[in-house]
Amino acid sequence: MKVIFDTDPGIDDAMALLYLSKLPEIDLLGITTVVGNADIATTTRNALFLRQQFGLSAPVVRGAGKTLDGVDKAEPVIVHGVNGLGEIEIPDVDEAGLHADEASQFIIDMVRAHPGEVTIIAVGRMTNLALALRAEPAVAQLAKQVIIMGGAFGYEGRSGNITPAAEANIHGDPVAADEIFAADWPVAVVGLDVTHDIILDTDYLAALSNEVGENGELLRQMCDHYARFYKEIMGLSGVVGHDLLAVTYALRPEWFETRRGPVLVVRDGVAVGQTIQMPETRKGGHPDWAARPAQTICTRVDAEKVLAHFRETV
Ligand code: BDR
Ligand code: CA
Repeated sequence: MKVIFDTDPGIDDAMALLYLSKLPEIDLLGITTVVGNADIATTTRNALFLRQQFGLSAPVVRGAGKTLDGVDKAEPVIVHGVNGLGEIEIPDVDEAGLHADEASQFIIDMVRAHPGEVTIIAVGRMTNLALALRAEPAVAQLAKQVIIMGGAFGYEGRSGNITPAAEANIHGDPVAADEIFAADWPVAVVGLDVTHDIILDTDYLAALSNEVGENGELLRQMCDHYARFYKEIMGLSGVVGHDLLAVTYALRPEWFETRRGPVLVVRDGVAVGQTIQMPETRKGGHPDWAARPAQTICTRVDAEKVLAHFRETV
């Protein structure tokens, strides 16, 4: 499976990248970066560090530092730390791994080079994808599928994390996300409805450190910081592995329950960033829904299988 990994590393982004790097089925074409868990210089530096650390050959491609509307604000540092990776020590990175192009152009070039073959796994804001679509609408026909970590649709009682209505990746650039859902390509969404079932607790993280070696220990160290956030905000003893679940979906969609129907993102107002799906079976509704293709959202997941698979794989 040819994959572009669009990311804002980010601790759970690092988990997802390690997972991808260990899966023999995956042919990683590139790691495109976006502002989100930190500013674009930091997420790009982190991607270069992780590429080096995980021994990857795919290039890092710097992407959008601002939303489509020109806002250049990153998420609060309380979640992933000032350096975006839980304040672990990050050595100097090898800039040779940085591609000369910009992420949206790279996405266009890759889907043109491999028509019908490229899966885009997007675990940050969707700005790079939206820029690619705006510049070349045929990207929607050329890509195989898009798998997104983002949104919250109210399943399992889940609401937003950045506001009661919105999840961070969607809230960070709601217009971009809305354009992705409106386009005629297969989009699958792994939102908070399912990612909040993927809890890596202290024992699990200790096992990663013991069984996986250097990179397992690195994840455990990053998670010290991440765990403090989850403890304070949610009373959890562990961390949520949001982004790794998008990788699982790419390989094992049968572990998820899903619902099909067009999806809208609230673009402004108090509920900005909220994701709403109209079931495919329901007729009528606002014409904005009727004009859109059905997309797939995940409503439940077999978390035990996912956690076991991640651990075995990495
Ligand atoms: C998403 O926001 C970021 O903090 C995480 O990396 C994940 O992609 C969860 O809402
Ligand atoms: Ca992320």
